[in-house]
Parts: sequence; structure tokens; C-alpha cells
Amino acid sequence: MTSRVPVITIDGLSASGKGTVATSVSLKLGWNLLDSGLLYRVVAFLVAEYELQYEDEKAIAELVERKVRIQYSTTGIQASSLKESRELRDSVMVVSDSLHRKTVQWNGEDVTSIVRGNDISRGAAVVAASRTIRAVLIPKQRDQRVEPGLVADGRDMGTVIFPDAQLKIFLQASLETRTRRRMAQLGAADTHASFRRVFQSLKDRDERDSLREVAPAIPATDAIRLDSSELSVDETVAIVMREARDRNIIEG
Ligand code: DC
Repeated sequence: MTSRVPVITIDGLSASGKGTVATSVSLKLGWNLLDSGLLYRVVAFLVAEYELQYEDEKAIAELVERKVRIQYSTTGIQASSLKESRELRDSVMVVSDSLHRKTVQWNGEDVTSIVRGNDISRGAAVVAASRTIRAVLIPKQRDQRVEPGLVADGRDMGTVIFPDAQLKIFLQASLETRTRRRMAQLGAADTHASFRRVFQSLKDRDERDSLREVAPAIPATDAIRLDSSELSVDETVAIVMREARDRNIIEG
């Protein structure tokens, strides 16, 4: 029974800091980490590679079914050691290193920077709105629930993928704080114009992600809403760890 394996879900909007917090918690616990946003990015990457139309949801779903593999590991694996593996050939593989950083390997090539890039973000939001495409990703995500535990980062981890998770966090931060964080991430110039641009693009994404019909980015009814606007990463991680201990999910 996989459902006994503990899961901590960390959901939230873009640039809420959930990726950083989820990675840190998974490293502290030595648990597997699922970066579900990366999967929607991988799908958008495949759509571009195969020159498919976004409307052709069935063809995309079938391609995803056949091509996308997620390697799980709590200790990490060198992407280079997979180069010769037959499994890697002709498939997209999400690989984790020892610091739980994810890379995306396509036919043995590292395409991580393309997949994480801005061009792919737009496509990812389009495919993420498709019920058919989301459906094929469900088992692939649930397969990540392996001993000794999983930290799952996304938008619908606590509502759709792991509704029975032992701890659900919905990470929040003001749009201003998230804009600052995203600007720092992008190395954007600290000007009013660039602030307005990043602010507006996050606002648009918020609306798309939280108002869409399928699996919107909203807190599960049993999620803890945690506002990190005034908190450092370490403080946020400490709160998540405390909540996990309080629920006896972890010892200590
Ligand atoms: O977190 P991110 O920016 O890498 O996510 C990419 C896109 O995928 C974004 O538009 C939201 C969507 N997404 C989703 O719909 N469900 C998830 N569990 C994770 C991401």
C-alpha cells in the first residue's frame, strides 16, 4: 500500500517560494521530491519538439504517456551515468541530483534551461489547463510516493494528486514580494519598468492558474495557509518541519 508512505504537499502560486521550501524540506528529511510544474513544462517542450497543436490534446497525452519518465531518488543520480541507458533513449527523463536539483534529459541531452525558460512557461500554462493531459500525468506523479516519503510541490498536490497527504501547506506571499523574488531569480534590472513587467506577468499567471476549471491552484480545505511575505526561507522551512513533527509524520 503506497498510501502509507508519508507525503507533505506544498502548493502555491508562481514565485511563492514553494520550490525552494519543498527542496529544502525534502533534503532535510531525505525524502523524494516531486516538482510537478516541471512536468507541465516538459509537456510543452514535447509539443514544440514534435510540432503538435495545443488543441490536439489526445495526441499530446499519448506522447506524454509513451515518452515521459521521472526517475525518483532520495540520494540523487548523475545524469551522465544515464547517458548510455536504453531507457533514456527516445524519452524525456526528469533526473534528480544529490541536492535534489532536477534536470531534464531528452535523448541524452540536457535541455533543462530550455524547459525552465520563459518561452516554455506560456506553453506549460496552456497544457496545464487540459483535463486530458493532466490525467496522464496523475499516475506518473503518484508513482513518486516512495519510501521513506515524498515532498510534492505544485498547484494541485493537496487537492487532486495526494488528497490524503499527511501535511498540506499552501504557501502564500504578496504579489509585491513574489515580484521581487522573481526579479532576483531572473537577474532582472531593478527598475520600475521591469518591476511592472514582472508584476503584471505574475498577476496574469495567478489568474490563469487559480481561475481555471480543472485543478485550480487553490488551498485544499485541510491545508495550512502559510504567508511567507515576512519570513526567510529558513523560517518558512522551520514552520513546515514543526508542523510535520506536531503531526508525528517525522520524529524529533
Ligand atoms: O511551477 P511552474 O512555473 O514550473 O509551473 C508551470 C506551469 O504548470 C504553470 O502554468 C502552472 C502549471 N502547474 C499546474 O497546473 N499544476 C501543477 N501541479 C504544477 C504546475
